[in-house]
Amino acid sequence: MTDAHTANPSATARAAALRTRLEALSDTSASGPKATGPAQLVRAPGRVNLIGEHTDYNEGLVLPAAIDREIWIAFQPWKRPEVELTSIEMNETKSFAFEGLAPGARADRSWIDYVAGTAWAMREAGLPLRGFRGVMNSTVPVGSGLSSSAALEMASSWALAVPGAPRPDAGAMAAIAQRAENRYVGVNCGIMDQFASAAGRAGHALLIDCRINQFKATPMPADLSMVVCNTGSPHRLDATAYNTRRSECELGVKLIAEREPGVTALRDVDEAMLERNRDRLPEIVARRCEHIVQEDGRVMATVAALRDGDREALGRLFAASHASLRDLYEVSSPELDAMVEIAVAVPGVVASRMTGAGFGGCTVNLVEQGAEEALRDAVLAQYQKRTGLEPHVYIVTAVDGAGEVNQGA
Ligand code: GLA
Repeated sequence: MTDAHTANPSATARAAALRTRLEALSDTSASGPKATGPAQLVRAPGRVNLIGEHTDYNEGLVLPAAIDREIWIAFQPWKRPEVELTSIEMNETKSFAFEGLAPGARADRSWIDYVAGTAWAMREAGLPLRGFRGVMNSTVPVGSGLSSSAALEMASSWALAVPGAPRPDAGAMAAIAQRAENRYVGVNCGIMDQFASAAGRAGHALLIDCRINQFKATPMPADLSMVVCNTGSPHRLDATAYNTRRSECELGVKLIAEREPGVTALRDVDEAMLERNRDRLPEIVARRCEHIVQEDGRVMATVAALRDGDREALGRLFAASHASLRDLYEVSSPELDAMVEIAVAVPGVVASRMTGAGFGGCTVNLVEQGAEEALRDAVLAQYQKRTGLEPHVYIVTAVDGAGEVNQGA
């Protein structure tokens, strides 16, 4: 269970292991603050994005699915306005107090900041908080672009929430967690990852409109599997490169809006409008805008292709998205390109592209049921030879969003 690359443990085994660890902690701290209730269990999934990359912060469309790579927290509420959390994977215990939480006071520069940031953002949103002592484990590989941070934020939001207090809907809760990451942790991400982790639906992808924070669940075809291939090169969500892309898009909006009244985001710009304003934009900004303006159309076309089971269209749309991210948005990497090249040559692989922020991380693949192992074999046989890096292959399924774990587990 400590290796996020191995298969998922069963829910029952996972719940039992966490409870045992939590009980052991409680035993050794009998003098500690009194628990106020029985041990509880919450979970939140990571996500993979099928298509719609870098569109979220341009108020566009995205199509992620919450996946069965999850963070679970077993915890005991207590009366103290404090959190103490042990990460099994990190083999570390960290804590923070609610009092004095503020972005500038970010204490730790570690994983606990995602929990503390969520507490801060919840309080800012007027939500009451409860303190707890907890133990967490994770099967979301860290630094792979599968949103372990968003999963930690969403799992924390459930543990921190006072039972019975009104809970914002998934979109609003995602916006609170995004604020934690933007303001408290200092990563200027969009809303997609938190939204997918909050609102996921088993067997479905989510078509999220990031302009209005609303979503529609889109069924995944039962005869296609999702396979995630990890390049083993950490996604360098090198805040700098990500933020540079964001400001290039913002500059595009500013320059286009000077001539086109009513444009407030790239969501408002179509291809014709981009073409008639191209001469006003620095060349690099025009290319960034071109990716965004076309990617929204690919999201809608992918939703239709999933509905119609149109394999040829899925393959073409994923390939076009990958090429655009490589050539226009420039966030792919030689490792991601190699992984896609290996995948698309495997019979039964319908569609393949990089997923997430880029600069490393994972590819997402839609694969005919039964061809998953052929893809795994091809990746294991060829990828390391080409890149010198060890790949990992995860066959994933779409799951429900964050929440309490049924205590029968
Ligand atoms: C990261 C960010 C998301 C989104 C993607 C790119 O995952 O956290 O908000 O911008 O990159 O699509």
